[in-house]
Amino acid sequence: MATKKETKKTVKPAQPADGDLTPVEVLDKAESPVVETAPAEIVVEPKKKILFVASEAAPFIATGGLAEVIGSLSKALAREERYDVRVILPLYQDIRKEYRKDFKFIGNIFVPLSWRNQYCGIFEYVKDNVTFYFVDNEYYFKRPGCYGYYDDGERFAFFCRSVMEILSFVGFYPDVLHCHDWQAALAALYLKTIYCFRPEYQFIRAVFTIHNIEYQGKYSLDILEDLFGISYRFQYLVEYDHCINLMKGAIECCERFSTVSPTYAWEIKDPYYAHGLDQIVRRNDFKLCGILNGIDPEYYDPATDPSLFANYSANDMAGKAVCKEELQKMLNLPVKPDTPIIAMISRLVSHKGLDLVREVIEQILRQDVQFVLLGTGDSSYENYFSDLARRYQGKVVSIISFNSDLSRKIYAGADLFLMPSKSEPCGLSQMIASRYGAVAVVRETGGLRDSITPYGAGGNGFTFGNYDAYDMMYVVNEALGVYRVKEEWNALVKRAMETDFTWSKSAKEYERLYLDMLK
Ligand code: GLC
Repeated sequence: MATKKETKKTVKPAQPADGDLTPVEVLDKAESPVVETAPAEIVVEPKKKILFVASEAAPFIATGGLAEVIGSLSKALAREERYDVRVILPLYQDIRKEYRKDFKFIGNIFVPLSWRNQYCGIFEYVKDNVTFYFVDNEYYFKRPGCYGYYDDGERFAFFCRSVMEILSFVGFYPDVLHCHDWQAALAALYLKTIYCFRPEYQFIRAVFTIHNIEYQGKYSLDILEDLFGISYRFQYLVEYDHCINLMKGAIECCERFSTVSPTYAWEIKDPYYAHGLDQIVRRNDFKLCGILNGIDPEYYDPATDPSLFANYSANDMAGKAVCKEELQKMLNLPVKPDTPIIAMISRLVSHKGLDLVREVIEQILRQDVQFVLLGTGDSSYENYFSDLARRYQGKVVSIISFNSDLSRKIYAGADLFLMPSKSEPCGLSQMIASRYGAVAVVRETGGLRDSITPYGAGGNGFTFGNYDAYDMMYVVNEALGVYRVKEEWNALVKRAMETDFTWSKSAKEYERLYLDMLK
């Protein structure tokens, strides 16, 4: 069991023997009065221990950007010798088989939660220097998908309580407990209301990251003790608007909280973006920061991506033309190298700005363009885009599904990538698109504003400010204009592809945040 006390090792510097000294030094040594000074000690700092608590992580299980961030940020931090990074996740039925078969069972415990006492199996798997733990309980997690069950509150309460118990089972007490989104909020709440009174847990600091403030984990106050196992003494921590609000609870009780881009950190203080939590965010502003997500440059690399029809890089673009041609063939679009392809890959929900697209897409389609959409979501949007494709055959293709292989082919084949979100905590698609040479057209919100800079100012894409369909169309047209000037366009594509979207800068910011918390 590692505790705080035993963590610092000191090493005394080697003392040179007299034989190693120069004649002058020997003289100095003989003549100078003997002053007893303690030899300087070189302090070997122990590794900082970081534990991510999250409901999904790539490559094991992914429904969205959260999984990619957990997978790639943990890997980026673990590359630094200074960190022992571990991640804990539920063992869902849908965890990818090719990994699951190698998970190692390391034991089981029983987890107390209110009047329940539930089985919890613990599996371990090490990847890229990161230790992953998986929490097994078939009653809660042997179901298709990750979310959307009537008892999600109970499922993630069990998960979070298990996290706390597993720490003592494996003897790993992190310096920083980093909880992501509402599903992990209870881990921070259990730490601060129950476990911090135990000696091994007392030094653990907690940080909570909001990946999307829309999903807060709201429940009736009646179940606070019975289901979540939190005493009514602590109701004040989680209560908001006459409900339990788990996100609010985590914001209140963590030492720090963060969001996934600097602009979003500032936006969620405003009722327009905060889904009711702006007051809580403003009150806790002193411990808030925004750190822009990155992407894994190895996982998203057009030079090596096996999904692509041909590989290419910013310095050798021949493959991109092949990708475009093959995409057009595959989607039954006329093969026209000079017709720009505008792509959207998105969940089809309202905050993705689909209303703007719906308002002006037919005007945009009057020009020589092709439009490709990939995604699933609200049926009204699914129906609208399917119908659009029927009406504009040979010009519009709508694929109502989620398919990672196809998405890569689209990023590689497209010229423009449209992402006019109403709000976007960070967004990863605009970064992936840029890396694959599809120039992003985005609204200036959240992480879109922090990652895409306007062409007019020498930037890597096209941006518009107001949530307005005609403003969007204006910049789409501006982009189409630049597309026709080949030299300009090629230079812009190169700039987009060469933008640094890796974790290098942001991982350092997380390090700074952790070290600041540990002071
Ligand atoms: C959520 C956000 C998205 C962000 C992702 C990863 O899915 O909606 O903007 O990129 O989390 O942080």
